[in-house]
Amino acid sequence: AEVIIVPDAPAGGAIVADEIARLIRRRPDAVLGLATGSTPLPVYEALRTRLSGVDVSQVRGFALDEYVGIDPAHPESYRSVISREVVEPLGFDPARIRTPDGSLEGIEHAGDAYEAAIEEAGGVDLQILGIGTDGHIGFNEPGSSFASRTRVKTLTRQTREDNARFFDSIDDVPMHCITQGLGTILRARHLVLLAFGAGKAEAVAGAVEGPVSASLPGSAIQLHPHVTVVVDEAAASRLR
Ligand code: F6R
Repeated sequence: AEVIIVPDAPAGGAIVADEIARLIRRRPDAVLGLATGSTPLPVYEALRTRLSGVDVSQVRGFALDEYVGIDPAHPESYRSVISREVVEPLGFDPARIRTPDGSLEGIEHAGDAYEAAIEEAGGVDLQILGIGTDGHIGFNEPGSSFASRTRVKTLTRQTREDNARFFDSIDDVPMHCITQGLGTILRARHLVLLAFGAGKAEAVAGAVEGPVSASLPGSAIQLHPHVTVVVDEAAASRLR
């Protein structure tokens, strides 16, 4: 992987936003892989200026994951987050930006349907990734198969604690999610993993330099030929 160390999160966001803006100018119907959580917010923020005056009407996108059983209208459903942070401010066509369907009805088919939609779009051009403190990417928690495809997973206690800040209490954080698999993520043509802050240092070191192991799902990026890792000094502090 190419590792880029930036002074702070806004600087990281700017670098990745430049790359995405270049991609969209070259390929107006580019397929973006979208992450939620705090990490990619500076990317989406920087894209507001980078994309002004660029025709984004054809841009397509697939979110990494969604909570299962959450009301899609809940402000913290990933559908709502993507709509609020990405689709609306950047002027993307909502019909072209998808999140996995986390509704309970039909959940057993939702993974396959999502895989088929990604396939039909011709695959993801650039996948934005954050990483969990436990090394997850998407919501592929430790133990996830490198061949996995979009499916329902149980969130770890750690992840639910990490994400409790978005909800009134940890009890409100859903127990399950539907997430692109590691195998799905690895099929994207370019992976861009961002991480900021000391809390991510261990996960970043494991992902970039550690043994390739299902115990640290982020280490799957070592199997991919085109990976860019954008980290601040704190998140890079455990790299050799
Ligand atoms: C979000 C996702 C997760 C997050 C990770 C880090 O779509 O798939 O892997 O990227 O949990 O979350 P933050 O960025 O909030 O620290």
